[in-house]
Amino acid sequence: SRPPGPPSTTGEIMKDLHQQAARWDQWAPYYDEDTRNQDPSRAAAGLSDLAGDGAALELGIGTGRVAFPLAEWGTAVFGLDASQEMIRRLEERQEKIPEGRSPVQARIGDMARFDLGTHYPLVYVIASTFFLLTKQEDQVSCFRSAARHLTPEGRFVVEAAVPHASGMASERQQMIVREMSEEHLKWSAFVHDPVHQIVRAQEVRVGPEGYRLLPNVMRYAYPAELDLMAQLAGLRLERRTADWEGSPFTATSTHHVSVYSHQAADNETSPPTGASA
Ligand SMILES: C[S@@+](CC[C@H](N)C(=O)[O-])C[C@H]1O[C@@H](n2cnc3c(N)ncnc32)[C@H](O)[C@@H]1O
Repeated sequence: SRPPGPPSTTGEIMKDLHQQAARWDQWAPYYDEDTRNQDPSRAAAGLSDLAGDGAALELGIGTGRVAFPLAEWGTAVFGLDASQEMIRRLEERQEKIPEGRSPVQARIGDMARFDLGTHYPLVYVIASTFFLLTKQEDQVSCFRSAARHLTPEGRFVVEAAVPHASGMASERQQMIVREMSEEHLKWSAFVHDPVHQIVRAQEVRVGPEGYRLLPNVMRYAYPAELDLMAQLAGLRLERRTADWEGSPFTATSTHHVSVYSHQAADNETSPPTGASA
């Protein structure tokens, strides 16, 4: 990771985006199968409540794992993603949706910096996708871009892991065997740089068809840092829960769903609800 220093140049920003695009192009053929056990229905229901009658913008929409169930609630979803291969799969899925349903559309874009010229009642980034922005300045810029796209009553929702509690930032190095049989082995290696809050991961899959390396890089952030980024973007934490069902966020929570809205015009912020020790 790049040591702290002057802000990134446009060339560096484009390089980061291209690297993430290349990584996710490699993940794309496996993504839907890998996430098939993650039930998106609760997230979709919660997001639909927040979108109301309006449309939603998803940052890092991927193949539309949550966007399609959200569209079934009647919410049109537009998404940005770095990876052409992820978007291609989303478009294939959209083609199979019966006419008359709310659409899911996506285009290539950087969630750190975007200007769509539209305002949404709901902008969201889920499944720790926010951490795929590997520099703090890009994460702040994402909050600012999201804030600019919100209607006056709009909400920006960030769903992510709590780094230490979820195991993301617990060890300097880690190896996890994910699947093993007589014919194949799937394991992940993680190297954690606590100075820059970066976790580099490599998933290795070996089987009769050969081997495959699937890399990933994340910059994790604790909820308190996210709240500060929100403040810099003119947003405030409205509520934080441990999941989509609204369970209280506590010291042992491994994930959080954080809902941000515009700061009051007079800059007075009321205390957020849903957090308890
Ligand atoms: C973990 S997947 C999540 C996809 C989807 N949100 C879901 O919940 O299934 C992360 C997605 O973020 C995308 N991504 C990574 N960096 C990005 C960036 N800077 N801008 C936009 N999308 C990005 C990847 O291409 C990938 O599709």
